[in-house]
Amino acid sequence: MQDTIAKLIDIRPLAQGYNVLTFDAPEIATLAQPGQFVHVQIPTLEASRLRRPFSIYDADPATGKLYVLYKVVGYGTQRLAKLTVGTQLNILGPIGKPFPLNPTGTPYLVGGGYGVAPLWFLATRLPQKGILFVGGRTAADILETERFKTIGWEVRIATQDGSLGQEGLVTLPLDEALNANPAAELYACGPDGMLRAVGERAIAHGIKGWLSLDKHMVCGVGACLACVQKIRKDGTGNEVLARVCVDGPVFESREIVW
Ligand SMILES: Cc1cc2nc3c(=O)[nH]c(=O)nc-3n(C[C@H](O)[C@H](O)[C@H](O)COP(=O)(O)OP(=O)(O)OC[C@H]3O[C@@H](n4cnc5c(N)ncnc54)[C@H](O)[C@@H]3O)c2cc1C
Ligand code: FES
Repeated sequence: MQDTIAKLIDIRPLAQGYNVLTFDAPEIATLAQPGQFVHVQIPTLEASRLRRPFSIYDADPATGKLYVLYKVVGYGTQRLAKLTVGTQLNILGPIGKPFPLNPTGTPYLVGGGYGVAPLWFLATRLPQKGILFVGGRTAADILETERFKTIGWEVRIATQDGSLGQEGLVTLPLDEALNANPAAELYACGPDGMLRAVGERAIAHGIKGWLSLDKHMVCGVGACLACVQKIRKDGTGNEVLARVCVDGPVFESREIVW
């Protein structure tokens, strides 16, 4: 893990409230693996000066560029949205246990909103192509799907208001695909309800399901226990508390005690 000063070199607005930031952060870009995150000190926060965690959206060791895709939700991300190109930020990372990159079946990636961020990085590093299932409340929550298509991934979309793709939850197209081809390995990032639903399907089909948890974090380095999640250890059934920041954020479906 590196503690580095990174320069913000590009800001790309997506749909309303979402932006992609590019940082010059060669130390982190070299080490980053899909599923890991960075802990960002947002300048100009007078109150609530804690770092904010963001998944690594992409990283290019050749250029030293590190990418973050974020949504404005509160105080910290509102401040992040006001930063201009050239700002220097303190960034800690890469942190956490990444997604495994050796699927035994077709990779099915499942995400919603900014949950698509680590899935893009994953899609670029997996040894085989698969299907991205992406869901959201409305079309504005469906992000970057064309990029997945450009690298040969199939994309299936569901929105709750039916404004894009199938009307309903992302589990609708996922179930259709699992029924047609259950020889898959699942990877998911998004809200707890979605993760739980994906995990249940992995267990029901007897396949692996890797879930990236989104827990409120404070230190981000395993010291404060703000981010604990009850898990079953090593298939023994013994329940223990894991720190999502350093023991996760990626866990296998069978480990998580919801
Ligand atoms: C491992 C990890 C990866 C993440 N990756 C991304 C990403 O790639 N892009 C992105 O946009 N966001 C990501 N997040 C969430 C992001 O960290 C929060 O949205 C951000 O910290 C909110 O900061 P804020 O000051 O704007 O909001 P606050 O003012 O702190 O909070 C706004 C609201 O969001 C809630 N909240 C804050 N943090 C979290 C959280 N971690 N989980 C659930 N609710 C929260 C608060 O309780 C409050 O209701 C990730 C979180 C984790 C743990
Ligand atoms: S955030 Fe402090 S232990 Fe995970």
